[in-house]
Amino acid sequence: LVRGDELYEGKAKKVFSTNDNDLVIIHYKDDATAFNGEKKGAIEDKGILNNKIAAEIFKLLEENGVPTHFISRISDRDMVCRKVRIIPLEVIVRNVAAGSMAKRLGLAEGSELKTTVFELSYKDDSLGDPLINTHHAVAIGASTFEEVDQIFGYAAKVNEVLSAFFLKRGIRLIDFKLEFGRTGAGELVLADEISPDTCRFWDAETNEKLDKDRFRRDLGNVREAYVEILNRIDS
Ligand code: C5P
Repeated sequence: LVRGDELYEGKAKKVFSTNDNDLVIIHYKDDATAFNGEKKGAIEDKGILNNKIAAEIFKLLEENGVPTHFISRISDRDMVCRKVRIIPLEVIVRNVAAGSMAKRLGLAEGSELKTTVFELSYKDDSLGDPLINTHHAVAIGASTFEEVDQIFGYAAKVNEVLSAFFLKRGIRLIDFKLEFGRTGAGELVLADEISPDTCRFWDAETNEKLDKDRFRRDLGNVREAYVEILNRIDS
């Protein structure tokens, strides 16, 4: 596979075309942003760590019946993925109150929830990725009722598989964000990345945060937390 032009540069990744029109190369950077790009920095080796972590998670999900864009990891910072058109929605799954939901609803971080919460936001930086519901998503043409149903179905499956996988390794999956896309052939697949950038991971014994909140909240030992997640996955 031959790398072609850069198609897109995001906050944490770059996407390159290849000589195969159905495939792209995704390059993981060390850059980190938070609060819709207001806070900027870098986490040493984050690109290498997240490329490995995301590859392992995508493999696990494929084995469990969730179609993803992932094909293979080809170097420290690069993976080959199926080319998709990203659906402009962020799907957030929450098992425990934290972050924006805790703040918005006046809940203590770490509060138990009586049910798993599935949220949608509209992926638009200029609007700050506003929280929306299914009707908004359909009304603005971002998706269809049928597609949102299918997306929430996959999100529930991802939650089931990852919650069990991480709990076995002493980690509580508090919440996470997913993005989906459509391949050229029209298949709906999980896309973007799953990593400590996009999940909240708390140590099951101590509740220590092992994710990007260490960067967002200046808690220190950011790189160490990402290394710890990779080590637990590998264990
Ligand atoms: O900030 P909030 O509490 O809404 O985040 C919920 C989850 O979604 C967290 O795990 C966070 O890392 C992830 N997220 C993300 N990208 C965003 C917003 C949230 O990965 N743009």
